[in-house]
Amino acid sequence: MDKLQVVGGAIVSGEVTISGAKNAVLPIMAATLLTDQPVILDNVPLLEDVNTMRALLQKLGATVTKEDNGVLGFSTEAATQTEAPYDLVKNMRASILVLGPLLARFGHAEVAFPGGCAIGMRPVDVHLEAMEALGATISVNKGFICAKVNGRLKGCDLNLGKVTVTGTENIMMAACLAEGRTVINNAAPEPEVIDLANFLNTLGASIQGAGTHTIVIDGVERLGKPTRYQVIPDRIEAGTYLVAAAITAGSIRLNAVNPKHLEAVLALLKKAGAEISCGDDWIRLSMNGKRPKAVGFKTDIYPGIPTDMQAQLMAMNAAAEGDALMEEAVFENRLMHVPEMRRLGAHLKQVDSNVIQSSGRSSLTAAPVKATDLRASAGLVLIALMAEGSTVISRIYHLDRGYSELDSKLRSLGVDCQRITDNLEDREASEEEIG
Ligand code: EPU
Repeated sequence: MDKLQVVGGAIVSGEVTISGAKNAVLPIMAATLLTDQPVILDNVPLLEDVNTMRALLQKLGATVTKEDNGVLGFSTEAATQTEAPYDLVKNMRASILVLGPLLARFGHAEVAFPGGCAIGMRPVDVHLEAMEALGATISVNKGFICAKVNGRLKGCDLNLGKVTVTGTENIMMAACLAEGRTVINNAAPEPEVIDLANFLNTLGASIQGAGTHTIVIDGVERLGKPTRYQVIPDRIEAGTYLVAAAITAGSIRLNAVNPKHLEAVLALLKKAGAEISCGDDWIRLSMNGKRPKAVGFKTDIYPGIPTDMQAQLMAMNAAAEGDALMEEAVFENRLMHVPEMRRLGAHLKQVDSNVIQSSGRSSLTAAPVKATDLRASAGLVLIALMAEGSTVISRIYHLDRGYSELDSKLRSLGVDCQRITDNLEDREASEEEIG
């Protein structure tokens, strides 16, 4: 397991190009299973999760080819397998996204039941109830969700019990090939849901209302248009680099980004003292050499403060001037970075089950820390920028899942950071630690 060594003290400054969005490309890749036509995707980020989804599609019989840097070609014409195995699902929960497409195209799917994970229980009840309402029979057998339907799924009115991003995406994909109209009430309005809807519409689907809480899908018999599609920029990667500049009193320009997707985060950073200007596809942030002021927030669904930015903003508050209250309101267990941040001297007090009070410190000191999930890892990298000395972050495979070339991008912004490739001895020690 590789580690990342980050030397604190740099002032982040420069330009960085934002990659395609992880949480947009994964459902879009899964959606290629709905068509027998070739698909080309542009702006595909270099990520472990993309490699996992690619492996899963190949396992199902699809052909995935690298056409160029950031360009993947897909052909699922010969896909005949319908089983998503546990070894892939356990590495990436987003594998559940093949359930809707497989069921809609082949009439059956077997997807390993995802377990809980480092950020919460993460049930998939809403996905399954919706598939049943669309006419599927669902059972659980030997750890697999087995979904079946005779003929086509049947469109219906759905009222989701919870706003769920991948749930909305799964249902939208299944409903594309259903008979008649499906209405998803209480749908997730995230930009990644809109991106998937736009992609499906270019394949020949009829989806309206994506980006609102009501999505209407008129099912079609076939998605038959060959398609080339560009994935939206990653708003969480963008937010992470903005915080890197803010926490170090630096300045940054992000290119290939959509500022409209980051309005809540930009407003919060302005409150923290950042001067921000934006164009259609760029954002510039400068702290004018000043330390950020602490800013309270509560995470929410889009367009609120994303839960995927909570750990990074907590890192900023831990090093900012003043106190702040932060509430995680989307997941029930997404605070595993708190004890790790405390190892660097952060004053973070748990005042309620999901509420942390920070009291910003002007001096933090480096220490070895352990990454527990993707965004927690990003938070640890950011707080390490403010710690005196070298912080070594272990288990950075979490970061590789969702940040494209993080270490080289940070180096280009003036940060002294190195990936430490593991040797056998370390690996054995880590395995013992897990056991
Ligand atoms: N939930 C249920 N039942 C369900 C589905 C969800 O109770 O059937 C609950 C969850 O337990 C959670 C809440 O609803 O408390 C919201 O979860 P959601 O389903 O929206 O999350 P997700 O679709 O599994 C996606 C992103 C996450 C991001 C969340 C919230 C992808 C591949 N993943 O997950 O991204 O945190 O939406 O915005 O799109 C990340 O990138 O690090 C990441 C975890």
